[in-house]
Amino acid sequence: MARQDILHLLTALPGEYVSGEKISQQLNVTRASVWKQIKLLKEEGFEIEAHTNKGYCIIKTPLSLNEWVIKQMLSTFSLGHSIILQDELPSTNIKAKELAREGGSHGEVILARRQRAGRGRMQRGWESPEGGLWMSVILRPKLSLADASKVTLAASVAIVDALAELYQLQVGIKWPNDLIYNGHKLAGILGEVVGEWNSVQTLILGMGINANFPREKLSMATKPTTLRDILGYEVDLNKLTATILRHLENQVADLEKNLFEELCFNWTARAVGLGSEVKVLRGEQIFHGIFHGISPDGELLLSTEQGMERFSAGEVQLRSKSGQYF
Ligand code: BTN
Repeated sequence: MARQDILHLLTALPGEYVSGEKISQQLNVTRASVWKQIKLLKEEGFEIEAHTNKGYCIIKTPLSLNEWVIKQMLSTFSLGHSIILQDELPSTNIKAKELAREGGSHGEVILARRQRAGRGRMQRGWESPEGGLWMSVILRPKLSLADASKVTLAASVAIVDALAELYQLQVGIKWPNDLIYNGHKLAGILGEVVGEWNSVQTLILGMGINANFPREKLSMATKPTTLRDILGYEVDLNKLTATILRHLENQVADLEKNLFEELCFNWTARAVGLGSEVKVLRGEQIFHGIFHGISPDGELLLSTEQGMERFSAGEVQLRSKSGQYF
């Protein structure tokens, strides 16, 4: 008997008790083994009330990642119908790349409760303690290689919109796809193309959100923040995952319909630092100018003394009121 069978029975009639006898009969197992599974579900974070005469009733699902709960909350067509959740991985992006090379399909999601060697942009690491949302999605979108970077822009819009929908937070995007709350980094995105982008175009979209842990768990160099620090409570990581996947699916569908202008508009409406003085770091080079927006190809437009410069890679630093760049 799978634990999921019990969950299906318990959630068939929400808020109602289901007797141990009914579960044992329907699943053809002993009542003792039903009880054992209920105990394991409780350990996984399900709040289950047991009543001597009435049976069992699910009061609350866990806030921590749970594959079954995510699937119940999912309203997507193609993303997240196959989910791999592990307690620990070196990096969900690395695992997703392996799976993609072995034929993993569009929409497969890889989640880890912790990452030992999380990867960030510009060959940096990404600290990934327990409580965060560390997720990679295998995407095989109908797009050209030139459009690959637009998917990461689309993902940043998707995450901002999910956070606004669930927690009414106003998160900004720092080019290309750092998610910033009040000047502090809340989340990051790492898009990686797998193999040759020819007939089968595969992109691994890695998303990391500092969620249910205090920012003190991270080194302070990147000025991080976490959802727990902002909101003062722990969020439901399953709901967050399902909501991000729904927004992401819509964004990618729009891109496939060539609606880049719409994405460009949506991205710009959420961008931080527009019209302000910024510093762009590209390799060893540093450029100063005014952040003008993004081009139809998703490049950063910087208005400098020498004219308009375009950047397809690099890092933006914003100027704070005190004149410091961050
Ligand atoms: C950045 O540098 O801002 C991008 C960070 C991306 C982190 C996520 S966490 C899930 C996925 N797996 C990784 O190893 N990296 C990405």
